[in-house]
Amino acid sequence: MLPFQERVELTQLNTFGFYSIAERYIKIESVDLLQQLVDHQHHSTDPLLVLGGGSNLILDDEVPGIVAHMRLRGKQLLKVAQDEVLLKVSAGEAWHETVEYAVNQGFYGLENLALIPGTVGAAPIQNIGAYGVELQDRVVSVEVLDIHSNSLHHLTKDQCQFGYRDSLFKSLDPGRYIILSVTFALTRNPTPQLDYLALKEQCEMLAQGVTITPKHVFEAVCAIRQAKLPDPNHLGNVGSFFKNPYVDPSTYAQLMESYPNLVGFVEADKYKLAAGWLIEACGFKGYRSKSVGVYDKQALVLVNYGQGNRAQIEALAGQIYRSVLERFGVALEVEPRYYPALILSE
Ligand code: EPU
Repeated sequence: MLPFQERVELTQLNTFGFYSIAERYIKIESVDLLQQLVDHQHHSTDPLLVLGGGSNLILDDEVPGIVAHMRLRGKQLLKVAQDEVLLKVSAGEAWHETVEYAVNQGFYGLENLALIPGTVGAAPIQNIGAYGVELQDRVVSVEVLDIHSNSLHHLTKDQCQFGYRDSLFKSLDPGRYIILSVTFALTRNPTPQLDYLALKEQCEMLAQGVTITPKHVFEAVCAIRQAKLPDPNHLGNVGSFFKNPYVDPSTYAQLMESYPNLVGFVEADKYKLAAGWLIEACGFKGYRSKSVGVYDKQALVLVNYGQGNRAQIEALAGQIYRSVLERFGVALEVEPRYYPALILSE
C-alpha cells in the first residue's frame, strides 16, 4: 500500500499562499516509491500533480487526485576540474540553497539565479532565468522518470528543448516526465555575467574597485531581488505573472511611435517588450482588488494580501490582459501554471 494521506492542506506548500486541499498527498523521498506511484497511476484515472516548491503554481481551493510532493535530496560532484565542475543535484533540493552552496564552494555559473524560489526539479520546467542567465546556459542533462514506461532516462540539454520560460516538460510533452535530478556544468574560473546594467552597477558598488567576483554577483542579485520583488514568506506571489511578450519589428516600430518610452529589447529578429512596463502604463502598479493586487515595486508580479484565492487572481489577470490588449494590441501570456488547468470559455 502506498502511504497516501487524505485531504492535506497545501496552503504552506504554494508561494501564493492560497488555501488549498489535496484530495490525496504523498511525500516522495525515494525513486523506488515514485516508481510504485507511477505503477499505481497506470491502473488509475486520478490526475497527478508533482509538487516542488509550489512557486510557479496557482492552486484551486480543492485539488483532485494525487499530489506527489517531490522530496528527493542529495548533491553529487561528478567532476571537479579548474574549468569544468559537473554538479548533479536531486529534484527536491531548494534552488537558492543550491546556488549558495555552489558559490561558497567556488563553483561559478549559477550566481545570477540567486534567490529564485522553488526547487531544483522545477527549474528546468520553465527554464528559470534572471539577470542575463537562463538555466539552459548551465544544464548538461536532466534525469527523468518517463511515466509511460516507468523507466529512468537522461535527457540531454538539446532534448529538453529549452526556450524562453519554456521546455519539453512545460509545453511539448507536459506530464510525461518527472524530473529526478539536474546536472550542471559550472567552472572554478570566475566568469561574472554582467550584461544587466543594474547588476553591473550594484557589483561595482560592492567590489569597491577590486575585481568583481561571482560572490559579488550573488550578493548583488540578492540585493536587487530584495529591493524589487516581494519575499513570498511575507507577501504571497509566484514571481513574474506574465511572460514578456514578443512582437515583430513593424509592430514594435508602430508602438514606439505612439509610446516613445516603451521598454523593449531586440532578440534575433523580434522584439521582447517589458510586460511590467505595459501593465504599469495601464495604471495597475499598486492596484488592489479584494485580497489580491499588483505589486507596487514591480507591476509584473501579482500578490496575495492574505485571503486571496485563485478566482480573485484569475479575475485580476483577466482585467490586466484585456486592458493591455485594448491599449497596445499585445496579448499577454500567463507564466505560472493553473492547477487544475483553466477551462477556457469563449
Ligand atoms: N518595468 C516597468 N515597470 C514595472 C516593471 C518593469 O516599467 O513595474 C520596466 C523597466 O523599464 C525595467 C524593465 O521593465 O527596466 C524590465 O524589468 P525587470 O528588469 O524588473 O525585469 P522583467 O522583464 O520585469 C524578467 C523576468 C524576471 C527576472 C528579471 C531580471 C520574465 C517573465 N521575468 O522580469 O523573472 O527576475 O527579468 O532578469 O521574463 C520570474 O520569471 O518569475 C522572474 C521574476
